[in-house]
Amino acid sequence: MSEHDTQSALAEAIRNPKNIGELADADAIGTVGNSECGEMLRMWVKFKEENGRKVIDRATFQSFGCETAIAVASLATEMIRGKTPDEALALSSDKLSSELGPLPPMKIHCSQLVEGALRSALLPKKDADPVSDCASKPAPGGNQNLLANFAATESKPGGLRIVMLDENAD
Ligand code: FES
Repeated sequence: MSEHDTQSALAEAIRNPKNIGELADADAIGTVGNSECGEMLRMWVKFKEENGRKVIDRATFQSFGCETAIAVASLATEMIRGKTPDEALALSSDKLSSELGPLPPMKIHCSQLVEGALRSALLPKKDADPVSDCASKPAPGGNQNLLANFAATESKPGGLRIVMLDENAD
């Protein structure tokens, strides 16, 4: 896929994003942030039983500004429908964004943010990445209102937790 094709696929996904917004009766919620760019992304997941298996019925997301993250999250929430949590967890950020073609280097972390939100939602709490104290780790440029909003809802049912992704981590 050429860079132009990637731009077109991105533009289309941004023009017509799927599955945006809170899923009121979600079974799992994951929230991650990138401390470098200040972007935060939250994902809601609802399960159902299908042929004796627990599969993802629906997933939605909210993102706060980054168009690439919105595009990848839109594709990812479509891609994981009907998959078991383990099948969804096996999808790498490259796979989740594959329909967009190769992302430019500075945008690769956007798809990793989506993967992180998915992992945050689907992994049992004890296996999830360590919870960061987001209030003590504000994004450069300040996203305190957003962080405060997320922190205020952290105690809601659904397993919400906020994980700050470190771009430089392995
Ligand atoms: Fe940071 Fe997209 S620019 S998530």
